[in-house]
Amino acid sequence: MERRGFVQSISALIGSMLLAVAGLGTVLIQGVASILNGKSQEGDWIPVDHIDRILPGKPTERTISYLTKDGWEEKNDRQKVLILFEESEPVVYSSSCPHLDCPVSLIPDEERFVCKCHMSYFDVQGKVMEGPSPRGLDPLPTKIEDGVLYCRWVRFQSGGSKSVEI
Ligand code: FES
Repeated sequence: MERRGFVQSISALIGSMLLAVAGLGTVLIQGVASILNGKSQEGDWIPVDHIDRILPGKPTERTISYLTKDGWEEKNDRQKVLILFEESEPVVYSSSCPHLDCPVSLIPDEERFVCKCHMSYFDVQGKVMEGPSPRGLDPLPTKIEDGVLYCRWVRFQSGGSKSVEI
């Protein structure tokens, strides 16, 4: 083979390999995205995020989405969840305030959670620091599978000192 032909063959081979790697990367990214945007039903395991994207020791929040059915009508519901990844075990809390179900949010600079309806504050472990909430944040069932953190969206009775699923 002439030198010119050899160089062209090597260039073509390297080009094919780069395209294959780029294609595989795209497939993997699309795979994770499709898991996270999947159509879980309420009560199913719902993907929260890839576990690598949740920093240990830092409270954070994510929005989960799932399908709910009302008769024939199907709609996409979204809920915020609050996360603390401690000692290799992520804990996912419901963002529904135990007082009267208002939404609880992260105050990032203070690393604590707040419900602005009646100003209940919760520490990053979900315990009540101040305000009228009768208990800490309600933890949701979680699992990690293939590097993805999942939770189940569960509703709890508001107002009581103990977490009771409804
Ligand atoms: S509903 Fe959250 S403090 Fe009242």
